[in-house]
Amino acid sequence: MKEISNYEPQIIAFCCMHCAYAAADLAGSSRFAYPSSLKIVAIPCTGRTDMGHILKTFEDGADGVLVAGCLEGRCHFQTGNLYARQRVEHVAELLDQIGLEGERARMINISAGMGAKFAELANEFAKTISALGPTGLKKKPASRELPLPSGKIE
Ligand code: FES
Repeated sequence: MKEISNYEPQIIAFCCMHCAYAAADLAGSSRFAYPSSLKIVAIPCTGRTDMGHILKTFEDGADGVLVAGCLEGRCHFQTGNLYARQRVEHVAELLDQIGLEGERARMINISAGMGAKFAELANEFAKTISALGPTGLKKKPASRELPLPSGKIE
């Protein structure tokens, strides 16, 4: 594990708008704190996430990705959260295989009324990611400078 002082992990949380998004909102309104570096992306169902989304999120600079869906048996699309869990687990295996830590991808199941639980799980995940440190995957921004003309312009 890498120890870095003043390191604030960048975490993206894909939250189902039927449950986890409302739980995060409840956590905020109830003043259950969770890290401000955890950015929430509302999605219609965790079944909407795919491995490409999650891997791209890491490539774009996330140090951890949380996928938060409805409780098992409560998904509005019946099996979306079950498929999401399989995908997250597969991403975790891939991360392990390429030398990153699989713990960086996690699936949680939560209901809209579990604001305190959302904050607890988000804080626990942020602590895990902080201990792991940055992935080092973030791409450098492409240079927008155009090459200078080499000859005279007439
Ligand atoms: Fe919430 Fe599917 S509707 S996880």
